[in-house]
Amino acid sequence: MVDVFDDFYRNKRVLITGHTGFKGSWLAIWLNELGAEVVGVSLDPNSERDNFVLSNIGKKIKADIRADIRDGKRMKEIFEEYQPEIVFHLAAQPLVRLSYSIPAETYETNVMGTIQVMEAIRNTRSVKVAVMITTDKCYDNNEQGQGFVETDPFGGYDPYSSSKGACEIAIQSWRRSFFNPADYGKKHTVSIASVRAGNVIGGGDWALDRIIPDCIRALEADKVIDIRSPKAIRPWEHVLEPLSGYMLLASKMWNEPTTYCEGWNFGPEADCVSTVWEVASEIVKNYGRGELKDSSDPNSVHEANFLMLNINKVKTRLGWHPRMNIHQCVDLVVDWYKKYRTEDVYDLCVEEIERFLSVR
Ligand SMILES: NC(=O)c1ccc[n+]([C@@H]2O[C@H](COP(=O)([O-])OP(=O)(O)OC[C@H]3O[C@@H](n4cnc5c(N)ncnc54)[C@H](O)[C@@H]3O)[C@@H](O)[C@H]2O)c1
Repeated sequence: MVDVFDDFYRNKRVLITGHTGFKGSWLAIWLNELGAEVVGVSLDPNSERDNFVLSNIGKKIKADIRADIRDGKRMKEIFEEYQPEIVFHLAAQPLVRLSYSIPAETYETNVMGTIQVMEAIRNTRSVKVAVMITTDKCYDNNEQGQGFVETDPFGGYDPYSSSKGACEIAIQSWRRSFFNPADYGKKHTVSIASVRAGNVIGGGDWALDRIIPDCIRALEADKVIDIRSPKAIRPWEHVLEPLSGYMLLASKMWNEPTTYCEGWNFGPEADCVSTVWEVASEIVKNYGRGELKDSSDPNSVHEANFLMLNINKVKTRLGWHPRMNIHQCVDLVVDWYKKYRTEDVYDLCVEEIERFLSVR
């Protein structure tokens, strides 16, 4: 595989939390292909059709561990045993609508879980770089039609969004208190950053109440696709876009630990900011069949209408930019769902990473 990170990840000890999930499984596959020693820490995958299960990535990495990130003692033991150098923290309860049903658990996992991971990092001298994954929903959303910049205030209406806003505050506090760049090399040797992506889409996601899995489930069952919030505007991006950003950022933090330990938006270009209806229509077009139905419900729980990220900072300071437009992105997403039943899914993912990297 083409290595756009110049062999940086070869033999690096990388710990991923949330590797059984949608984004984490892709990250584990990519890092595995680059020769990293990957240790994954997560709960069980949700279904037999998850990318993690079908790709068999759990059997290809150094260690595939089941543990709860809320268990601080267990986190410290795992970090102590595997001595990771780089940590990507993705484990979370990531769903807005579910967070209305299990708000306390959402907070326990997202906020206390993140704190337990940071405490394990603090306790383990091998860790040099930590990339903490939050979300575009961590910002206080005034629905003003402008993209958030990294210095905008944190907030969040629903329990999920606000738990990620709280995560950002905790990460900022741990950075100031324990991983302060001014004390680097004297009191600690950790560079910690937080990263915020948009609405990530890609093969192998079967989560509830997400537009792509909803579309595919309906298409496979020959049912009409119900669109809950047709007019909601989201920054859509293929999963490989933010992952490429997280990986680039970690490599830069490794070389210049005090320069990049901040918050970063890894969103799409403006042409990928579109309505749920537009994206669902693109899915149907690509899949070759399907019918959409406007199922807006005025009594539904609150979800943001407008979300967009300003990505000038990552472009100018990291030299990162999104590769694909919305058509290329949806094309790659649908490709996975058309092939997952008949092809080797690990090879399919590697081929998709190569296709992604071939786009300039
Ligand atoms: N998918 C998106 O559109 C999107 C957008 C922005 C940010 N994010 C963030 O990216 C991360 C990954 O999201 P995803 O879509 O892959 O989610 P996912 O639900 O597919 O994966 C979540 C992962 O976290 C693990 N996990 C959950 N609770 C845990 C616990 N208590 N202990 C240990 N592991 C636990 C699960 O086992 C799984 O591996 C999350 O932090 C999410 O908030 C996702």
